[in-house]
Amino acid sequence: MTNSPMTKLVDSWNREIDYLRIAVTDRCNLRCFYCMPAEGIDYLPKKELLSYEEIIRLATVFASLGIKKIRLTGGEPFLRKDFISLLRNLKGIAGIEAVHITTNGVLTAPYLDEMNEIGVDGVNLSLDSLNRENFHKITRRDEFDTVMKTLEGLTHRGFNTKINMVVMHGKNTHEVIDMAQLASDRNISVRFIEEMPFNGSEMAASQKNWSHTRILEELTKAFPSLKKLDSDPSNPATLYQVAGHLGNIGIIPAFSRTFCGACNRIRLTATGTIKNCLYDEGVLDIKSLLRSNKKDDELREILVATVQKREKDGFAAERNRKVDKNISESMSSIGG
Ligand code: GTP
Ligand code: 5AD
Ligand code: SF4
Repeated sequence: MTNSPMTKLVDSWNREIDYLRIAVTDRCNLRCFYCMPAEGIDYLPKKELLSYEEIIRLATVFASLGIKKIRLTGGEPFLRKDFISLLRNLKGIAGIEAVHITTNGVLTAPYLDEMNEIGVDGVNLSLDSLNRENFHKITRRDEFDTVMKTLEGLTHRGFNTKINMVVMHGKNTHEVIDMAQLASDRNISVRFIEEMPFNGSEMAASQKNWSHTRILEELTKAFPSLKKLDSDPSNPATLYQVAGHLGNIGIIPAFSRTFCGACNRIRLTATGTIKNCLYDEGVLDIKSLLRSNKKDDELREILVATVQKREKDGFAAERNRKVDKNISESMSSIGG
């Protein structure tokens, strides 16, 4: 196969993949209980992680296959040494039109000017509470003030900013409306996310109490002017506008998975596994292929074939899990 721009990643349901999410580390400096147990997870030895050279090579190969957008996640991406240099290099790859970051905002603020200069296209900030004590309870770390500084730094510089709040029964559901108010005088998107069972333990997630329909009901009660906005079908968030608010609100049915039909994304985990779906257990060990001196053309051929085998939706992907039917992975190793 040649490096022709005509070679694209298309699955057998005719969905074109142009969005790659790359987890750069499985480490995190918070312990959000919907993501990790208090004692943390067993972090992998450094040599198991893809090196920056490997990530950049793969991103270049993916760009030649039609990937246009990259989102960097973790764990917490800013924990990885010299993360800024990776951002800079990814922004320079021909064909990559946008590089976004998902971060918890603890280490982010000192890098905002450099991110601006590099041209980072968007930042999604995890923020599950607006109350310092509750933030501490949920994340098991006392970092609320630092994260709020990051939020103010982002909005002040005009970054395309989205807040991610995982809605957890009895833990932060009383804060949903206050959180929505953050978008009243800030041009940001505040997204409410159904909790998924990726918490690194057997503990059940509480999403059944707070599905996307319940979240919408609560928001509609508080904001009768709420109007649905048009958005790209591949966007997992359904967007809404409150009259007079500068920003908007989004609801992400991450567990109900109502958006799979238009899914345009695949994932590269920190340890170099390709996931065709958030809910599969990994479909290709690309790290071993990289480390066995495969040529770019061979990688392209394997990636095209891998994406063709993508399941129809997150439910089919979940059913196909062989090792772990009851998902106990941590989101920190998957990359969100
Ligand atoms: P953009 O569309 O680029 O803004 O990305 P995003 O909103 O999907 O990214 P982000 O990392 O902020 O994820 C927000 C939430 O959506 C997280 O809880 C994710 O786990 C969830 N999510 C992201 N992608 C998927 C997906 O493919 N499937 C499901 N079920 N949930 C997803
Ligand atoms: N359920 C839903 N969302 C989760 N995230 C992490 N773990 C879970 C989970 N179990 C979200 C975080 C972060 C994004 C990448 O994934 O809020 O913003
Ligand atoms: Fe795509 Fe799987 Fe997420 Fe559905 S659940 S949107 S198929 S990654």
